[in-house]
Formats: sequence, C-alpha cells, structure tokens
Amino acid sequence: MTSPEPLHSRAIDSGKIERIAISTGGGDAPGLNAVIRAATRAAHRRGWEVIGIRDGFNGIMAPEEYPAGGTITLTESAVRGIGHLGGTILGTTNRGNPTRFPITDSNGSVRYEDRSVELLDRLGDLGVQALISVGGDGSLGIAHHLCETAANTNHAVQIIGVPKTIDNDLDKTTSTFGFDTAVSFASESIDRLFTTAESHGRIMVVEVMGRYAGWIAVSAGIASGAHAILIPEIPYDLEWVAQTIRTRDASGAKYSVVVVAEGAAPIGGEMTVLEHVEGAAKRLGGVGEKVAAALGQLTGKETRTVVLGHLLRGGSPTAFDRLLGLRFGAAAIRAIEEGRTGIMVALAPPTVEYVPLIEATHRQKLVPLDSDTMLTGRDLGICFGDQLP
Ligand code: F6P
Repeated sequence: MTSPEPLHSRAIDSGKIERIAISTGGGDAPGLNAVIRAATRAAHRRGWEVIGIRDGFNGIMAPEEYPAGGTITLTESAVRGIGHLGGTILGTTNRGNPTRFPITDSNGSVRYEDRSVELLDRLGDLGVQALISVGGDGSLGIAHHLCETAANTNHAVQIIGVPKTIDNDLDKTTSTFGFDTAVSFASESIDRLFTTAESHGRIMVVEVMGRYAGWIAVSAGIASGAHAILIPEIPYDLEWVAQTIRTRDASGAKYSVVVVAEGAAPIGGEMTVLEHVEGAAKRLGGVGEKVAAALGQLTGKETRTVVLGHLLRGGSPTAFDRLLGLRFGAAAIRAIEEGRTGIMVALAPPTVEYVPLIEATHRQKLVPLDSDTMLTGRDLGICFGDQLP
C-alpha cells in the first residue's frame, strides 16, 4: 500500500490560475505591504488577477460589515508606492479565527465552529484558485487547516503561507520580516535611554514585545549594550540583576539599563498577562513595571519604566524587511505557478525556499541558549537573570 502523497508536493494544474487572493492576518508587521506589492506585480506579469481580502478573512466571512466590499481588486495603481509603508493596506485582525469561530449562544456561553468549508466555498464563488495567507503562527496554522480541509473536500485551491511577525518566533525560517524593523527601533530607543539614565543615576527598565520568545529583547539589548536582559527562555531571579547593578554602582557607573521581554517571568512564577481575550491569544504586558519596582526595592535606587509596545510594529520597514517582504511575495507567486500547495515560503540564506506548512507551525522558535548571540551577551558581561555576569 502506498502512503498518501504529502500535501506540499501535490501538483495542481496551475495553468488554470486566473485569479488569486491575498490575506494578511494577526498582528501587523512592517513589510506586509511589500509582500502585497511584489505578489500582485508578479501575478499580473503572469496574467492573473489579484484580490485582497479585508481584515484577515473577515472580508469574505462577514461581507455585510463592508459597505464598500469585503475584498479589494489589487490593480497596479492599488499597489503603487506601498512597499515602504508600515501596516497593511488590507487591514488585519487577530480575532474571528474561521477554523475556530466563536459563537455566543443566547445563554451567553461561547462555543466554537469550524467554518473552513464555508471559507473555501466563498473563495470558490470569487473564482479564486490560489490563496496567499500572510501571517504568524496563528494565521499559518489556519492556512494549514484550510489546506487539509480543501484536500478532504475537493476544493481546488492552492494555499501558500508567507511568514510574518516582529517576534521572529516562527520555525523553519531564519527570519521573518518585521523583526529587523522592531529590533532597529528598540535599539535606537534603548540608546536614547542611556543618556537620561546616566544623567539621573537611575535604573531604566525597557519592556519590549516578543510574546513567548526573547528575540527582540536579546538582539536589541545586546546591540545597545544593556546591562541586564530578561527573556522568557530564562526564568529570572532579580537578586542577580540587583547584584549586577550594585557592582556597577560600586565601580562608579551609577546607572543601569535593563531590557525585559514582555514574556519574561521569575523562577517559579508566571508571565504577566494584561488581558485574557476570548478566542484570541492572551495579551502580555506589565512585567517591566514589576521588575522596576522590585529592583528599586532591592537596590534603593530610583527606577523608571518605558514600554515600547506597538511602537515596535509601526512605521516604515527597514531596507532588510522591505527586501524580505518583496522576496517572499514574489516567491509565493512562483510557488503557485509551480503548482505547490500547503507550503510556507521561508528564508534560508542566501536563498528563499519552501517548507511544508505543518513543519513551520509545529513549534515555536525560541532563542537557543547556546547560540553565539547569547554567548556574546555573556562574554560582554550582560546579566540574564540566572547568574552573575
Ligand atoms: O505577535 C506580535 C505582537 O506584537 C506580540 O509581540 C505582542 O504580544 C502582540 O502581538 C500584541 O498584540 P495586540 O496588537 O493584539 O496587542
């Protein structure tokens, strides 16, 4: 008996492509518009039409919410001059997952429905033969589920994932666009805090995003020369950080800069959650304030907290992220042309390759503690909250 052919290698007759759709889901990231621009232009060169779905899949799942239409025809002029813009011209959402759609019953209880078949039907009604789903782990998980549903229900639609997130926590791709922009901004912000920290002899605690991974904190913190960096991968004991600060004080450096990833947690403790959201990932935030208060108590020093938050997601993509977005968008179109489905475009320097969606969404990519970046941080004398530097 032969085993079924894996989804990602199944050939689909791409000679039949006339129209494709693009959706951007999850938190926005600088570089999304570059993907939209490159995919649209590359598709037009092949004679394909392109439509953009508004707000993830909401534009086709709830078209009644869009008086001007839940989809946009992506013409040449619609994508002109957007490559350097932050955000996404299509809009995005991290609510209303169509594979686990929350329905509130009359008694107020919430149940979840899988609306994948309905979504695939709607794509069929729109005459779409291929979908490019640009997103993070959540959106790519949805793309994988849609792909399996399409195969099981004979919906002839190719599904290609494009990885995006400032958090850089997606497996099977060296990097995601948005990350470089976030690190550059965080790094510049931390640089600025040094002079005010030194002038006042204070501890400045900077909280950065990154969800359950410490990529942004580690990269920006080391690049800027922070004195301590706390990340989710290393449960912390603030006594080590306080001791590092006391040692600096004793040597005449009366100020310290501490970078805290929003997902960092003390040994034996929990992450700091701002809000639990029904049907969506919980919102993290607030650990910076806690760390600052505790360090103030432990060292007797004045402390201040800065939360960079969504500033890390806004603004223009760096040249690296722009180029990566353009490369991913064009590679997605080549994948469609080759008849592929169930794959994600991935960066494998110096090239871009295709990996099965299932592998990309299998597990989160955390900061390896033995990576040369971490070893560099340790060699520089940075405290990571688990020992004295
Ligand atoms: O995944 C990107 C990200 O910016 C995380 O770093 C952060 O935890 C989360 O999204 C914030 O989401 P929201 O925009 O819903 O507040």
